[in-house]
Amino acid sequence: MNKALRRTVIAGNWKMNKTPDEAKALIEEMKPLVAGADCDVVLCVPYVDIPAAVEAAKGSNIRIGAENVHFKASGAYTGEVSADMLKAVGVEYVIIGHSERRQYFGETDQTVNLRTLAALNAGLKVILCVGETLEQRELGYTETLLKYQTKIGLTNVTAEQLKNVIIAYEPVWAIGTGVTATDDQADEGNGFVRAAVAEAYGADVAETVTVQYGGSMNAKNAEGLLSKVNVDGGLIGGASLKAPDFSVIVKAASK
Ligand code: PGA
Repeated sequence: MNKALRRTVIAGNWKMNKTPDEAKALIEEMKPLVAGADCDVVLCVPYVDIPAAVEAAKGSNIRIGAENVHFKASGAYTGEVSADMLKAVGVEYVIIGHSERRQYFGETDQTVNLRTLAALNAGLKVILCVGETLEQRELGYTETLLKYQTKIGLTNVTAEQLKNVIIAYEPVWAIGTGVTATDDQADEGNGFVRAAVAEAYGADVAETVTVQYGGSMNAKNAEGLLSKVNVDGGLIGGASLKAPDFSVIVKAASK
């Protein structure tokens, strides 16, 4: 297992927070703090914040992402946004299949797969989220579920396209709860995801895929989580809304 084969990516997920003016201010505050990081730095922001965020991040090492994307190119889908639209306003990354989308908005592994294909075909980089609920973990389904979610999410994604896919293992019980997976639980979950990629694409490809951990990662626990061999970065919610905290995580990933 060679971590050096993979990009480390620290991505913020702002969720439904920040107006465009607030987004600009937060990015201005973050820019000097994350400059020169030895990892990729991404901020996924609400749709309406994208133009302000892209403008504020210009000339810095911060890349801007969206938090969802529709799978059709255009048409009668009220309230939705297409991959081409995101590309056109400077978006480079998109989160797909976040557990909050699955939980509150009827997202399924099949629609996650359709969104993933649409985003990749439009030239976006995808952060594909998978993760088990506490009940599923307690029933002993974690490995089966993570492998299933990973494989269905990646159906018809070619090995070439996979280079533009990051997978985020986010145990649902750890998201926004302050309960973080232990370093070993994160490593194990990420390992299940990588094993699923190996089953679908071969071990060599799996060695190169960035697998993030997400779920209450913060300035205090990031270093331990990121030290694990299977943890190639983080998807960060709450702590990405505070520049000092987020920059500590970015620095931990740069070690
Ligand atoms: P959290 O969110 O860091 O606030 O737990 C992580 C996520 O939802 O991606």
